[in-house]
Amino acid sequence: MDKFLVRKSEPLKGQIRVSGAKNSCLALMAASLLTDDPLELDNAPDLVDVRTMTRVLANLGVEISRTASGGLNLDSSRARGLKAPYELVSKMRASYYVLGALATRRGKAEVSLPGGCAIGQRPIDLHLKGLAMLGAEISTSGGYIYLRANRLRGARINLSGRYGSSVGATVNIMLAAVLARGKSVLEDSAAEPEIEDLAHLLNSMGARVSGAGSPVLEIEGVSELSGARHTVIPDRIEAATFAVAAALTGGTVAITDCRPAHLGAVTCLLESLGVNIEKGETTLLVRGGTPLAPFRIKTEPYPGFPTDMQAQFCALATQAQGKSVIEENIFENRTLHVPELARFGADIRVDGRKIIVKGPCRLSSAPVMASDLRASAALILAALVAEGTSEINRIYHLDRGYEHLEVKLARLGAPILRVSE
Ligand code: UD1
Repeated sequence: MDKFLVRKSEPLKGQIRVSGAKNSCLALMAASLLTDDPLELDNAPDLVDVRTMTRVLANLGVEISRTASGGLNLDSSRARGLKAPYELVSKMRASYYVLGALATRRGKAEVSLPGGCAIGQRPIDLHLKGLAMLGAEISTSGGYIYLRANRLRGARINLSGRYGSSVGATVNIMLAAVLARGKSVLEDSAAEPEIEDLAHLLNSMGARVSGAGSPVLEIEGVSELSGARHTVIPDRIEAATFAVAAALTGGTVAITDCRPAHLGAVTCLLESLGVNIEKGETTLLVRGGTPLAPFRIKTEPYPGFPTDMQAQFCALATQAQGKSVIEENIFENRTLHVPELARFGADIRVDGRKIIVKGPCRLSSAPVMASDLRASAALILAALVAEGTSEINRIYHLDRGYEHLEVKLARLGAPILRVSE
C-alpha cells in the first residue's frame, strides 16, 4: 500500500493545470450506454474511479480505450450486459449510474446496492423513487436492485431529499428520462456544474434537456440518441484544493485550465479571509501570505459551499487567527478527518453538525490515516504546515479522485514523496 511522506513546505509557487472533473466524467461515461454510436470524452482524468467505471461499463460489454490526447473512446454498440456486480459497485458508488441508462435503453438492470460509506449512510431512495415514477418496476433482494421496464414514460418528479437536492439521483433520472416517451420535469434537481456538463453532452447526442444549472430540469424524451465528442469540464474541487494549498502555505499559485465561475463560494470565502485572488476566464491567481481571518461556513448544495471542500477548509482553519466554525449539512458522518487533524496538534473538535477549530495552531508532524477522498487532501494540506515529516497512510482514497496530486504539489515546491510498501 502506498503512503506519502510530507515535510513542512515553503510557500508554494508556480503554475498548475487542473484535470478533468471526476464527478462529471463518471456521469458522462454512463451516457455511452444510451447510444450505439461512439462517444469521445476529451480531458477525461486518469483516476482510479474512472478506471472502476471503465470496468463497470466493460462488464456490460462497452468497448473503451484511451486516446493519445488523454481522452476516452466508448463504444456501446455491442454492449448487451445488464449487471453491475457487488465487487465493482462496492468500490465506487457512482457505478449505480448505469441503472438509469440501462432502465431506459434495455428495460432491464441488475445493480448491486451501494451500501454506506465512511461519510455516512447514503441512501438511494430518490434514485429508486424517480425511476419508479418513470414507470420502472423495482425490487431488491440479496443486496441487488432488480429493475424491469417497458419504454419509460416522462413524469413530474420531485428530487428533494432530507439534505436537499441529490447530484446522483439527478444524474440517474436524467439518463433515464432522455429516452422516455414524453416530457419529464425534475423539480428540486441538483444544479451542480457536473449536471450542466451532463446536460450539454446529452443535448449534443440529440437529447432535449433544458434548465440545467437551475433547480428545475425539463426533458423532452426522444426515441434515439447519437454519438458525440465532448470535453469534460475542469475539476472544481481540485482547483479549490490548490487554492487552499496556496493560501495555507502563504504562496502564490496560478491555477490554469479551471472555471472560476464554478468556484464562487470558495473564492469568495478565501477573499474574505484575506487571500488575494485574481480571476480570469479559465485561470485563478491565488496569493496568500497575509494572516488568515477565522470564518463560519456551512456546506450546501451548489452554488453553496461544497461539502467536498469541507475537510480542506478544516485544515486551513488551523492557521486562521481565531475560532472558525464549519457546519456539515450534507453528509452526517463527514468528520473522520477531525481526529486525524488533531494528531497534528490542531485544536479541533466536533459538536453535532459543527466542527470547531481554534487557530492559529503550531502543527507538528504525525503519522495519520486518510478516511476518504477529500479527507486525504486535508491531511496533506495540514502536513504542508506541520513541523517535521508526516506520514499519510491509506492514500488509495486520494488516488480515486485527484490526478497525480503529489506530482502537481511537488511542482509547486511541496516536499512530498510517494512511498510504495
Ligand atoms: C455527489 C458527488 C460527491 C459530493 C456529493 C454532494 C459524485 C460521483 N459524487 O455524491 O463528491 O460530495 O454529490 O455534493 O458526483 N441522498 C438521499 N437519498 C438519495 C440520494 C442522496 O437522502 O437517494 C442524500 C445523501 O445521503 C446526502 C445528500 O442527499 O446526504 C446529497 O447526496 P448526493 O448529492 O446524492 O451525493 P452523491 O451523488 O452520492
